[in-house]
Amino acid sequence: MSVSDPLVSAARAAREHAVADFSRFRVGAALETAGGAIVTGCNVENATYGLTICAERVAMFKALSEGHRSFRRVAVVADTEAPTPPCGACRQILWEFAGDIEVILANLDRVTARLALAALLPHPFDSRLLGK
Ligand code: THU
Repeated sequence: MSVSDPLVSAARAAREHAVADFSRFRVGAALETAGGAIVTGCNVENATYGLTICAERVAMFKALSEGHRSFRRVAVVADTEAPTPPCGACRQILWEFAGDIEVILANLDRVTARLALAALLPHPFDSRLLGK
């Protein structure tokens, strides 16, 4: 899909709400649920730095807290020429709650990469190894 993909547009809009006073690196994310709803998130930083939460996890935790349990795609937007992929912690959370969804990386103008989450998180640890 092009820049007109509503999921990418939603991630771009969410990025406008980023609370990134420390890094100045603003990120937006948008999750598409199996039912077609879009749930967004932005990164939220605070003075301890370590309690920062990424846009992807904000979007996922919002979605889960609103009752969504099945997902199709996630879009991540940052103002970078190169693709900005989810950090390791976000890959784990996305994998556990969304499985092998499509990950669309975009900047303010265009989509920079499309990947399967499994390509970003090979050999994942998840509940199957716990016998669940
Ligand atoms: N960040 C995200 O929100 N998502 C990413 O995919 C990469 C990094 C945030 C965390 C922190 O607030 C800032 O970007 C710089 O690392």
